[in-house]
Amino acid sequence: MKVAIFSGSVYGSAEEVARHAASILKDAGFEAWHNPRATLADAQAFGPEALLAVTSTTGMGELPDNLQALYFDIRDQLPAAWRGLPGAVIGLGDASYGDTFCGGGELMRELFGELGVREVLPMLRLDASESVTPETDAEPWLAQLVKALRN
Ligand SMILES: Cc1cc2nc3c(=O)[nH]c(=O)nc-3n(C[C@H](O)[C@H](O)[C@H](O)COP(=O)(O)O)c2cc1C
Repeated sequence: MKVAIFSGSVYGSAEEVARHAASILKDAGFEAWHNPRATLADAQAFGPEALLAVTSTTGMGELPDNLQALYFDIRDQLPAAWRGLPGAVIGLGDASYGDTFCGGGELMRELFGELGVREVLPMLRLDASESVTPETDAEPWLAQLVKALRN
């Protein structure tokens, strides 16, 4: 199964988590594709059969700059081929931001909802105020994702 991983990151943590997710998915036998500067055309050319978004939150609950263009292009075009695909989101944030905690991840969840992506696992929220090892913290969730995508 071909899994496209979209990542949004300001300081690199979410990008590291996305890279780690790609390597775990590859080890599990999936074809994982991750390009932190992906355009919609690149992603469509890959022909995803599942979608994973990994994004931090910046500003007041906003998406990092490197994910914005892809986010708006997906929202404008809502590729029909992606409707019904399995998908999931990892949100990175900091709970001390209160209401906007993991707002970037929430935006990707809403987008996946508009796309008709089937959320196979509840969003993982990684809290930078609690832990400085987001890649390792994501491992149990990623193991569940592997199982959910195999079903
Ligand atoms: C300027 C700035 C604004 C932020 N705004 C939010 C926010 O609104 N909500 C949130 O949950 N985290 C917020 N964060 C925390 C980051 O999302 C968190 O530290 C994350 O782990 C950074 O990941 P990155 O290295 O991939 O950018 C903010 C951090 C900075 C520096």
